[in-house]
Amino acid sequence: MDSNRLSATLAKALNEQMTGEAHNAQIYLAYAAWASEKGYDGIANFLFRHENEERNHMMKFLEYILKRGAKVVVSAIPDPGPNPTSINNCFEKVFQSEVENTERIYRIVEMSMAEKDWATWNFMQWFVKEQTEEETLAIELLDKIKVAGGEAANDSALYALDRDLQATPDDAILAQDVTVEKP
Ligand code: FEO
Repeated sequence: MDSNRLSATLAKALNEQMTGEAHNAQIYLAYAAWASEKGYDGIANFLFRHENEERNHMMKFLEYILKRGAKVVVSAIPDPGPNPTSINNCFEKVFQSEVENTERIYRIVEMSMAEKDWATWNFMQWFVKEQTEEETLAIELLDKIKVAGGEAANDSALYALDRDLQATPDDAILAQDVTVEKP
């Protein structure tokens, strides 16, 4: 008896997204190593923490495919691409990569809706929320580097930013969690 509860189309998309999350992890890993080499250990620490989050995302896709009775296909992880050229460029690239990931997540949501695969639709809602958080965090990074001077940020501004990011929490506060007491 066939216990597979995923269509071939969705199984393929979920497997590709599993690899996509591993790719995101490689991007954070490469940028973290780059930041560390440049002496920005706080920024590197922030990026290393996010690399771990991406690996957790990869595992969630892997487990979901298994639990729905479909086949996991582990494939090669694409190259993370060129290193950033500056801290400003690093944060821009992080934002860009998160937006692209959100678009991929939304496509799977659309596919699950078209197939009326509500289990996958429900599973994907965790990622919809997570991507809102990740984009918020990336926008906050862009705000911070903008305040520091953007491409023209001087050494003391980058030093302060580096220390700040060492202690920045992993999760951004979402609009729906804000209250009058805690704006
Ligand atoms: Fe798993 Fe940052 O997306």
